[in-house]
Amino acid sequence: MSTLLKFPDHFLWGAATASYQIEGGWQADGKGESIWDRFSHTPGKILNGETGDVACDHYNRFKEDVRLMKEMGLQTYRFSIAWSRIFPEGRGKVNQAGLNFYSELIDELLKAEIIPFVTLFHWDLPQPLQDEGGWTNRSTVDAFLEYTDIVTKTFGGRVKNWITHNEPSVVTYLGYVYGDHAPGIKDDMPAALAAAHHLMLSHALALPIIRKNSPGCEAGIVLNANYLQPASRSRADLQLLRERDGLWVRWFLDALHGRGYASDVLSSLVAEGKIPSTQLEFVQPGDLETISEPMDFVGLNFYNRDVVRSDAIPEEENLPQTVFSQPKDEVNWTEMGWEVYPEGLLHVLARFYFEYQIPKIYITENGASYSDGPGPDGRVHDERRIAYLREHFKVAHQAIEMGVPLAGYFVWSLMDNFEWAWGYRQRFGLVWVNYETQERILKDSALWYHQVIRQNGVALK
Ligand code: FCB
Repeated sequence: MSTLLKFPDHFLWGAATASYQIEGGWQADGKGESIWDRFSHTPGKILNGETGDVACDHYNRFKEDVRLMKEMGLQTYRFSIAWSRIFPEGRGKVNQAGLNFYSELIDELLKAEIIPFVTLFHWDLPQPLQDEGGWTNRSTVDAFLEYTDIVTKTFGGRVKNWITHNEPSVVTYLGYVYGDHAPGIKDDMPAALAAAHHLMLSHALALPIIRKNSPGCEAGIVLNANYLQPASRSRADLQLLRERDGLWVRWFLDALHGRGYASDVLSSLVAEGKIPSTQLEFVQPGDLETISEPMDFVGLNFYNRDVVRSDAIPEEENLPQTVFSQPKDEVNWTEMGWEVYPEGLLHVLARFYFEYQIPKIYITENGASYSDGPGPDGRVHDERRIAYLREHFKVAHQAIEMGVPLAGYFVWSLMDNFEWAWGYRQRFGLVWVNYETQERILKDSALWYHQVIRQNGVALK
């Protein structure tokens, strides 16, 4: 018998999804258009021109999906609410049918003894708000608070775990600098930073509303962080690493923890001509204090290591150049082109906890894209996903032993789904989905995960 690494009692095991990636029903029952509807309907934005119009048809099949979760033994399920189902115009008139859908889903979960873990915003902003500037416009903060109030008033008795935003950095930079995600704007750093600011402001102002409407709940935000390593000890690589980490991670963690906006990041952006001045005109007096409103937890989405390599020629040729190797074989790379590097999770968790004293951490996403489908026996033998998860669970266990207050783990994803700009090419699911027939099959990883949950532990091998 192999040794079992036991997790603490009450550790929560779950899986995660997001509304636009699974629901479909993009115009069902009065739903309004979201920026992801608009973006995916724009030619050239998504691989193969695919859209989330139907996706996994979860809108119509949620009962079957909850049954699958039960079969897998999930203790909790992280999903997001589509703002445009509740407010087709972004604010103002409520669409009761939208609330009813989530009400039924929540009841179904509770009946199955699965804890609903709700994300309020997982990227599908109502298009009418984008038409007014979206997150770059401060009035979107008020719209988010109106939406938060209705949702938490309606479900606050039944739902006790709330996430305001998912990965504000991705919304910020993929939405406003790289343009790979909705709203698809390129090279506009001032707009990006305004969006980031309003996302964080709306998060912080939502916390007291959530707590009032959902007594005894816990509320937090979800941030993403890869493990970054410099390719060498050259000053150029180290500088690039600092900038990248500053922009993607420190910008958010610092502000949320009362440290304001990283001044080194601001100076570099000015020096590179990306913003006009270190004075950000959209930051009003008191905002930074507001943003540091304490949270009950932070969710971490972790997937991979990134080795940071600058094009600049190292100035200090005499320095030892430790180069981290990244062998290009399929064992170490998922189909997203993301490197499998479980130890990175330990570094990121330790940093979140020891540097920011975060009281409670959940891994709100972790998983791997491998396209294995059903074989002749009708089963999906996704051994690589099992290996990926096992190694990451082991590292999570190690982090807990180090003192990191890790309270739960959500595998991304419950089922194969619409992977944003990649369309349906990337399959992250524990459940395999046939997009033609909507048939679902529990992959071997789902069966293996069931064991882990039952034992509240992971076997070493
Ligand atoms: C994260 C997103 C999630 C999913 C995974 C693969 O950035 O939060 O929706 O697409 O990546």
